[in-house]
Amino acid sequence: MSITAIIFLGAPGAGKGTLAAEVAVATGYEHLSTGDMLREAIKQGTELGRTAELYIKQGNLVPDDTIVAMVVNHLRQGPLPGRYILDGFPRTMRQAELLDSHFQQMQAKLAFVFLLDVSREVLFDRLTGRRVCRKCGAIYHVRNIPPKRADICDACGSELFQRPDDMPEVILKRFDVFTKQTRDLIAFYEQQAILMRVDSSRPKEQVVAEILKIMAAEPRAD
Ligand code: AP5
Repeated sequence: MSITAIIFLGAPGAGKGTLAAEVAVATGYEHLSTGDMLREAIKQGTELGRTAELYIKQGNLVPDDTIVAMVVNHLRQGPLPGRYILDGFPRTMRQAELLDSHFQQMQAKLAFVFLLDVSREVLFDRLTGRRVCRKCGAIYHVRNIPPKRADICDACGSELFQRPDDMPEVILKRFDVFTKQTRDLIAFYEQQAILMRVDSSRPKEQVVAEILKIMAAEPRAD
């Protein structure tokens, strides 16, 4: 296969970005986060960024066709063979179906979908306490995963900030969107027998270790 991908599926705050960054370092997979791609487009002031910002600040999803085109363009332009962690994509049935059809054309393989399970109370605390590096995107939490110096990134020394969509009212809207538009994907991937449930409420080292163990035990992620 020319492209192999795994998906990190989970509610806002489930740890998709945090875990994907670590699994990418451990496996050599490329971490592809649709949220990060959209935030970069907003920062650059592109047409995509201006459109995306309208949806993101209200906690809504960016339209499916825009997101699928963004991801598929990236995959088609990447080196071969390519191995990717898809963080936050797909998150609607239409995105999943379009991804399947592009993967068939590209002879790409979806090896695993990791469902990161966490209770709603924990998610809310994680999101309100999250801080992100303005420069390198490293993710912290004021109590769970704090930086060594308050509001300064350990990795690059830049300032940390709170995402505008981590305000309580937007978080509640994002939970609602997840329940209505993304939860159906669980059954979709369960039927394909590639869904792996992982308890993501544990310390991140334990969750990363479990994901790596599952990947190592199954040759399909090679
Ligand atoms: P996106 O950035 O993907 O947001 P999200 O899905 O809401 O997920 P988050 O980034 O909030 O959480 P996460 O699961 O990555 O958790 P994290 O690792 O940061 O998307 C933003 C917006 O873009 C969407 O709302 C939508 O508008 C748009 N968009 C993106 N993709 C799209 C798509 N496919 N279709 C349409 N629109 C799309 O962790 C959270 C916190 O918890 C951090 O503080 C972290 O330090 C802490 N933490 C993590 N793991 C642990 C642990 N094990 N123990 C303790 N603390 C932990």
